[in-house]
Amino acid sequence: MLKIVTVIGARPQFIKAAAISRAIRSKFSDNVTEIIVHTGQHYDPEMSEVFFSQLNIPHENYNLKVGSGNHGVQTARMISGIEEILISEKPNCIILYGDTNSTLAGAVAASKLLIPIVHIEAGMRSFTKQVPEEINRIMCDHVSTLLFTPTLTGAANLYNEGFRKDNMAPYHVDNPKVIPCGDIMYDNSLYFKDVALKESNILDLHNLKANSYSLVTIHRNNNTDDPNRLFSIFKSLDALVHAAGAKFVLPLHPRTQKMLDTVPGLRDRLTEVENIKIIPPASYLDMIALEANCDMVITDSGGVQKEAYYFEKPCIILQSETPWVELVRNGCAELADADCNAIESAYYYFKKPDTKLDFKPVFGDGKAAEFTVSKILEYLH
Ligand code: UD1
Ligand code: UDP
Repeated sequence: MLKIVTVIGARPQFIKAAAISRAIRSKFSDNVTEIIVHTGQHYDPEMSEVFFSQLNIPHENYNLKVGSGNHGVQTARMISGIEEILISEKPNCIILYGDTNSTLAGAVAASKLLIPIVHIEAGMRSFTKQVPEEINRIMCDHVSTLLFTPTLTGAANLYNEGFRKDNMAPYHVDNPKVIPCGDIMYDNSLYFKDVALKESNILDLHNLKANSYSLVTIHRNNNTDDPNRLFSIFKSLDALVHAAGAKFVLPLHPRTQKMLDTVPGLRDRLTEVENIKIIPPASYLDMIALEANCDMVITDSGGVQKEAYYFEKPCIILQSETPWVELVRNGCAELADADCNAIESAYYYFKKPDTKLDFKPVFGDGKAAEFTVSKILEYLH
């Protein structure tokens, strides 16, 4: 029996972990035991609990309840909690997802205990260390043993950083293996799409018609913590409502909700504009329904920009770079940063009837999770 400790803590990690847990339960339950550690980085029911129940994620075995805080304090609390669990559970490996502080904490704790790290969503790079996620990705990749990349670009990035294609088993931290496998978030979108479209009532609840609105999410710290950027994004939405009759729906991260009040007059202005609809963070099924029915996505979220692509919706990215370069390369997304002109011109471009978009397959075959677990068993058992 292979014993895995999975460390998760933030919204997108619950969603990613759901795909792997589902694969373990359905195909590998005789060979794999999974212990789930929730760091408590996200804790509001609509940022955490709702995903466990909706996506059938097994209840966590441990919750470190670290909560919010400065990066150092938050990460340090996680490292110490994870270390204790790893010492007592003695797993064969640890699974870490993506690029949050929970990922980094798991990487520090496990690497010092010589526990092999499986990094899922490895190799993604935005090529700026000014964003905390890039630091977390690089640090985690460089102490990992199995690096599962969702795109071929992810694998190419790792080879450029010195990872070797020709390493042979047995794999360990000094002899790691890069494995392109497809995107487990794509697995989830395929798996949950029909149920979301059937069960979600979010469109009715907010009186939304298919293709009559654009979906917006904002939560990255460079946008939320800089009042000029936050103002600029909302200014362009406001301009598009008035000049183009646009309608926007924003399930807003609690971080952004709190920061709205840092821009003088913004909250009051927003309550006056009926076509900028701010709603609480959506559940996963509601989010899928919102994505599948919108005309366009405007976001700074990594996961949401990919989901736009899965559902063949154009996407305006509220950042100057993205690790998901294929979306931009294929002409289905534009990097508008927080620049009013760029946001507005991308909106008009994507609304033009003669704009043709080609959503070439880039994220695998929807079976990345099964493939991933089979490789973990093959290489780490
Ligand atoms: C984190 C990740 C980011 C990821 C995002 C997914 C890091 C460095 N960042 O950003 O990569 O894209 O999660 O959503 O790990 N808050 C609440 N309730 C919650 C959670 C957070 O109110 O349940 C508020 C708190 O004010 C907190 C702030 O949001 O200080 C930021 O939370 P934090 O987890 O530090 O970072 P995120 O912005 O969520
Ligand atoms: N998501 C959600 N409800 C929301 C916003 C996002 O369920 O209100 C889902 C979204 O569908 C995607 C994931 O959360 O699967 C993306 O997470 P997030 O945007 O928080 O972080 P990122 O991907 O940028 O790290």
